[in-house]
Order: sequence, then structure tokens, then C-alpha cells
Amino acid sequence: MYALPLTRGMPGRHPLPFPHPAVYLALMSEPTPPPVLDDEQAIARLRSRPRPWAEDYLAMYSSWLEGITTSPWLMSLPLDDHMVHRGDGVFEAVKCVAGRLYQWEAHLARLWRSAAAIALRPPLSRQELTRVAVAVVRAGGHPDCLVRIFLSRGPGGFTTNPYECPTPGLYLIATRLHPPPPQAYTQGVEVGITSEVIFPLPGVKSCNYLPNVLLKRLAVDRGWDFAIGLDPDGNLAEGSTENIALVDRGGRLVAPAPGHILEGITLTRCLALARRLVDQGLLQGVERRVLSVEDLRTAREAMLLGTTLDVLPVTRLEGRPLGDGQVGPVARALGRLLEQDIRHNPQASTPALD
Ligand SMILES: Cc1ncc(COP(=O)(O)O)c(C=O)c1O
Repeated sequence: MYALPLTRGMPGRHPLPFPHPAVYLALMSEPTPPPVLDDEQAIARLRSRPRPWAEDYLAMYSSWLEGITTSPWLMSLPLDDHMVHRGDGVFEAVKCVAGRLYQWEAHLARLWRSAAAIALRPPLSRQELTRVAVAVVRAGGHPDCLVRIFLSRGPGGFTTNPYECPTPGLYLIATRLHPPPPQAYTQGVEVGITSEVIFPLPGVKSCNYLPNVLLKRLAVDRGWDFAIGLDPDGNLAEGSTENIALVDRGGRLVAPAPGHILEGITLTRCLALARRLVDQGLLQGVERRVLSVEDLRTAREAMLLGTTLDVLPVTRLEGRPLGDGQVGPVARALGRLLEQDIRHNPQASTPALD
């Protein structure tokens, strides 16, 4: 397993200037209670808090602030927003490449679908949200970044009752992009399969990602680059933040049938682009169907698809080679098509920064 940037924030990557846990324990066992701070002291502490990973935080819009900040220490949410304490919200992550938001309209459409699924009405129109996103990217000043949009139930109180929140919240943050390292694409990655995690609302990109968090943790603990979860019938579903597709023995590109996965924007786009590979004779077809674990074990090729990853070839399955153990021609060709689409197809993206 190579060190994906997924380990960001771990001690090896960022030597955190926090005290050792033993020091915290000693502090906690001291009899003096924490001080009650006046506003100035609290603000000074917030400003001076060590937060090295915040170097990546470029700009944030908050409906709570009704504006944009580029100061990471101000990039916070009210604790009584139900998204914070109940996970009551939905989100999107959109890639901005060379100043253009890739597949922006498709991400907005999915955000609206997710919001409808939890009866959350966006507080602004798609056009207004586009204006906010463009302003955030501009304030961040980086043409290559990741824009996350969080649509929350909003500040209210601390119960589970969504009706106690008068106004939904909206938070957008632009951060630096961290794709996997180049060797992940030239050598491929390892996946493992598990039935230990159940996705309760797979089609909704909700802020309840605990199953996805547990899936990621399981992958890291087992030494896999990625773990793939199964649906309730034991068929292939998806990874913690990525879809899977494979090239079957008949030379068809196949992705799991809709229903038990999040319909990835990258997956949808790649399935459309792959039709060109059918025309070129590299693929025999493109399909959605129920995929078993055996289908993955016997696949010619497999690949992971997602906004951060693009097309990431899979070459190992739980320690054994998948296919011939090399990056396959379809993953390579599809990766190139997607990159072309991202960089050179103006119809597939929305301008944000010149
Ligand atoms: C559970 C899950 N599946 C699939 C994906 C891939 O979707 P997209 O291609 O839209 O990034 C994501 C993205 O974060 C995800 O969270």
C-alpha cells in the first residue's frame, strides 16, 4: 500500500504541535476548571489555535456570516446547526480545474435531489448558488481547487426535530486539490471487499457519512488502499467516496446497477465517454447490472471513479493481482478521455476564475 494523501492529517504527514495525549490526561486530572473567557480572550484563542491542515483552506462562504472569509480560524459552524450535531444536511464536492467548475450543473442537480430526499429546501436558487461558488473560488484565488457545498438544516436547537430550525444553512469551502500521487495511476491500487458496513441512504449525499468513515477506516486498518462495500444482497456497491466499475470477461465496461450506490457524477460521465471506446473497438459495450464479488475477482480490469480520483486503476484485490495485475488499456484510455473532457470541453464545465 502506498501513502495516499488520504493519510493527510496523520502524524507522519503533519508533525502536529499539540501536546502528547498523556499531557492532556495530566491536564484533565488537574483540579483547576477551564477558565471562563471573555469575548476578547476567546477570539484571541481562536486566532492562535494551531491548525496546520488549514493551509489548504482557501476561502469559505457561510450563511451565518452572510459573507466570505479567507481566514481559516473563522471557518467554523454554529454548534446548534443540526448538520453538526445530527448530520442533518446534504453536500457536494466539485472539482475546479484551470478556473472551471467541472460538471457543475450535474453536481447542482444531485444536490437538489439529495435535499429533496430529506425534505430540505435550498435557501437560494441554483443561479444564486452558482454566483456564491464563483465568488468563493475567486476569493480563494486558486484556479485548481475543490469546492464543497454543505446545505444544512440550519441553526435551531439541540433536538432531532428539524422543524425547530427556521432557516437552512449554506456553507461553501474551497480547498486545495490533493489527487493521489502519479504512481497510483501508473501502478494501480489495491482494494478489499467487506460486508461489514451498511449504507442506510446510499442515493443521498447526506452529511451522515459514518458508514463511509468506518469503511475508510477498515481499509486503512487492513492495509488496502480502498475498501468496497456490498449491498444488502451481497453484491458490489461502492467505496467510501468512490464508485467502482470493471471490464468483464466479455470486454464490456460494467458498473453496479442503480439503487444501492450514490450515482457518481464521474461514473455517469465516464459511462457516456466510454461509448467512444466502443466505437474504437476497445470495449464491447457499456452496461449497468448487478455485479457479484465473483465478477470483480474474474474481471479483466477494475477502476475507481470519483471527483478527486478521476479514473484510478485497480490492480490488486486483497493481496492478489486483479486481471493481469497491470493497469489495463480501458482504464488508461478512459482516464485520458476524462482528462480531455475536464480540461478541454467547455460544455462540461462552468467558468469561475480566469
Ligand atoms: C459514497 C460515494 N460514492 C461515490 C462517489 C463518487 O461521486 P462523484 O463522482 O460525484 O465524486 C462519492 C463522492 O464523494 C461518494 O461519496
